[in-house]
Amino acid sequence: MIQQTLCLIKPDATKRHLIGKILSHLEDAGLTIKALKKIQLTREQAEGFYAEHQGREYFTSLIDFMISAPVVAVVLEGENAVANYRALMGATKPEDQKQGTLRKMYALSGRENSVHGSDSVESAEHEIAYFFTTNEIV
Ligand code: TYD
Ligand code: MG
Repeated sequence: MIQQTLCLIKPDATKRHLIGKILSHLEDAGLTIKALKKIQLTREQAEGFYAEHQGREYFTSLIDFMISAPVVAVVLEGENAVANYRALMGATKPEDQKQGTLRKMYALSGRENSVHGSDSVESAEHEIAYFFTTNEIV
């Protein structure tokens, strides 16, 4: 099944000039970049994006991190793209991250973990629409 998913290249990675390396890794894996934009998130935008995490003890530090520098939002398309990209991205917990995953290669910590990926087809639809209009996806 051809799917679309949302990738965010997070502030720790944009600050370290890793945008090109991360995009190259995704294209090498066969994913197609359908839309791309660099954005400085406002606090309100970051809180809305991570709304389901509101109330968690890590929420404020997550939001502070997400607005600490620009992010790059990317719509990726490919066969089974949601799970395929989650696998390329790597696990949330540093101790679970496998060799060769983006987070294993680039994450600085459990919070400064370089990339976001949608966790289901439904959240991908919602997250893509959070950043892009239909005519920006080509
Ligand atoms: P989550 O959606 O659980 O992870 P993933 O990014 O792998 O989908 O959490 C969103 C982000 O919140 C995660 O990338 C980093 C941050 N976070 C923490 O800082 N501490 C935590 O304990 C968790 C679960 C997440
Ligand atoms: Mg998540």
